[in-house]
Amino acid sequence: MSLAPLPVSPLIGNDPVSPELRERLSAARKALGSRVLILGHHYQRDDVIDFADVRGDSLDLAMRASKTSGVEYVIFCGVHFMAETADILTPPDVQVILPDMRAGCSMADMADIDQVEEAWEVLTKATSKRYIPITYINSTAALKAFCGRHGGAVCTSSNARKVVEWAFTQGEKLLFFPDQHLGRNTCHALGIGLDDMLVYDPHNPHERAGGNDPKLYDQKKVVLWRGHCSVHQNFSPSHPDVLRSRYPGVKILVHPECQFEVVQKADLVGSTRFIIDTVKAAPAGTRWAIGTEHHLVNRLAQEHPEQMITTLAPFACQCSTMFRISPEALADRLEELVQGKASNVIRVDDETRRWATIALERMLDMRD
Ligand code: 13P
Ligand code: SF4
Repeated sequence: MSLAPLPVSPLIGNDPVSPELRERLSAARKALGSRVLILGHHYQRDDVIDFADVRGDSLDLAMRASKTSGVEYVIFCGVHFMAETADILTPPDVQVILPDMRAGCSMADMADIDQVEEAWEVLTKATSKRYIPITYINSTAALKAFCGRHGGAVCTSSNARKVVEWAFTQGEKLLFFPDQHLGRNTCHALGIGLDDMLVYDPHNPHERAGGNDPKLYDQKKVVLWRGHCSVHQNFSPSHPDVLRSRYPGVKILVHPECQFEVVQKADLVGSTRFIIDTVKAAPAGTRWAIGTEHHLVNRLAQEHPEQMITTLAPFACQCSTMFRISPEALADRLEELVQGKASNVIRVDDETRRWATIALERMLDMRD
């Protein structure tokens, strides 16, 4: 039986950059030379990532930022928390610039420091056992500092497993924020049962203790923050079934920010870097339905015509905030630097930086 070809995903934000804009970008880059380093996350649109000196996932880019020397500016084509992390990890004389300040992250916005402090009070009052706070890198610098201050660490999707294993050598219990799905998927893969996990809802009033009977914080092993990625949340448990029935032999490959039920149905689960490496290593003719951000899936499909690659959802799962970084904004920031001005500089205050560095260094020590 011949197999029906997989559909090619529609392209968004991948139009070629106009010759005029390309000229502006190259002229500004040339004028600035080695004074500038451009970092780009894999979810960026093609018309932006093409201009990055280094591409990577969150962990790769944090590592690259920590090794930066001899440049005046890092331009971060990603979202706000990534630029903040880069500011913390680069030497103080390096200025980190986010091309468009509207590029936030809806998941990072789902936990603020006041809510986390409140949750901590609820948890620590409810038990004498030691909780270790772990924040996903997709969070504000204040939350990273909170983890540094309270014996915790930062993780990314690439090293969440290692960081969670480490956390259980430091204490008996885990508070994981802001992504409940990464927390749940990681802990479950480590053998922790779902009935040993509990969701803390920051929108439940303090006296309601995050929506739970406080006694449960003494009994359960893992407390997951009620947050999610609005992109990966779009993949639903019916999608693997639909793709498998339509395209026999298709392999389902998903990011751990997807819901537990989707991850359970997948053939493989892993970070952005894992997804890229897995596709690179696969033989010609492999059929993939990938559950992650749309621009990356499209790029993989273009780079691997010998395989058949499509998105797991029947619609485009695009990170709309990453998408706000445009080639025009990048050109504007570069040209400002040529003129001796720097705007959209991301600066983390010294006290936050000090504590956040501790939590970030633990993350970097636990890379794969
Ligand atoms: P990674 O780069 O760690 O895979 O994270 C994906 C993501 O959602 C970035 O915001
Ligand atoms: Fe945030 Fe999700 Fe976009 Fe990543 S993909 S930046 S987690 S909204």
